[in-house]
Amino acid sequence: MNMRDFYKSLCFLLGFFSVQTEAEKEVNVATWGTADQSTLYGNYWYAQYALDGLSYTCTHTEWQTDPWWRLDLMKTYSVNRVTITNRPDCCESRINGAEIRIGNVSSNVYSNPVCAVVSTIPAGATYSYSCDGMEGRYVFVSIPETSMVLTLCEVGVYVIFSGNLATGRYVTQSSTFGNWISQQAIDFNPGFKQPSSACSSTNSETNPWWRVDLRYIYKVSIVVITNRLDCCPERINGGEIRIGNSLENNGNNNPICTVISSIPAGVSSTYICNNMEGRYVNLIIPGDSRFLTLCEVEVYGEGPLLKRTFLKMKLKSSSSLSDPAVRVQLLSQLQSVLMARGFSDVTLQWTQPPEQEVMRKEAAPAKCAVRKRR
Ligand SMILES: *[C@@H]1O[C@H](CO)[C@@H](O)[C@H](O)[C@H]1NC(C)=O
Repeated sequence: MNMRDFYKSLCFLLGFFSVQTEAEKEVNVATWGTADQSTLYGNYWYAQYALDGLSYTCTHTEWQTDPWWRLDLMKTYSVNRVTITNRPDCCESRINGAEIRIGNVSSNVYSNPVCAVVSTIPAGATYSYSCDGMEGRYVFVSIPETSMVLTLCEVGVYVIFSGNLATGRYVTQSSTFGNWISQQAIDFNPGFKQPSSACSSTNSETNPWWRVDLRYIYKVSIVVITNRLDCCPERINGGEIRIGNSLENNGNNNPICTVISSIPAGVSSTYICNNMEGRYVNLIIPGDSRFLTLCEVEVYGEGPLLKRTFLKMKLKSSSSLSDPAVRVQLLSQLQSVLMARGFSDVTLQWTQPPEQEVMRKEAAPAKCAVRKRR
């Protein structure tokens, strides 16, 4: 192929796309926990009504001294902010002076540090209170006064999850038990209240596996696995964490980071993978009649080491691209064009052989189609 023709026929060449990771995400974790309150007024106004997403169903204590509402998140979180929605129908000033507390002492409201004090919230409005990363398992709202009522229509507890490379990535598993889909292992929710909607699980089978595609190659430093709380924590025993770039045997032949001996129910265990390089992180349990259930998988590390961009090109060539030698030659020519323009760290590869399209005499120059595949 003549170099001049080659230049002419390439209208638009390569586009470089920066890597966007979804590695930081703010999530409302309130609904993952269970709520109760100091007293219940009437036959409804349940504590759980502050978590149901409906601002017209509310909680309500009796008239009492120091009424409180408590949320057990079932796990310690670093809380970024708390939101409170006031009742829309009447008496909005009852919320004035309410204290938001975050801590680990379930038995005594006042042993937990204060995040914020509510001054006023207009009827039906939602106000946000910054808690600046205060850590705790319980969130309390209470009014430290005599003869008071505490009503809350909605409470949100927002946590920022950051640095988890699995966030938003493509996941899959060898089979799916009921609704326990593979994505539920990367939804941040450990599923302690309702595992079927927050954990992944395969059926009972031989060598069940789960895989996340990080999309780019990273140096993986640690993997954190959260085991189910509700039952059978021993099912995870013998699970292998594998990291690498191959999809041979569904990625289960990649190098092993660790073999899980056991993880107690509801515990998150951290495994050090010493910067193993890879795009795929697999969990596999070797053996017959095994379930692989994962309530959360977190992956941390550095990278990406290699950014990939998929390009589709249309080009005019006097040589046949069905000849592998010509294809190799074309790549090396493209490579040297890029080199000349200062891109020395780029490797080109065919992901799909060119389609066979023969255009003998074209009046207008061939148009190039460049598009981003994913
Ligand atoms: C609650 O417990 C966690 C971990 O056990 C700890 O880091 C945090 O400081 C505790 N919070 C309070 C308010 O004591």
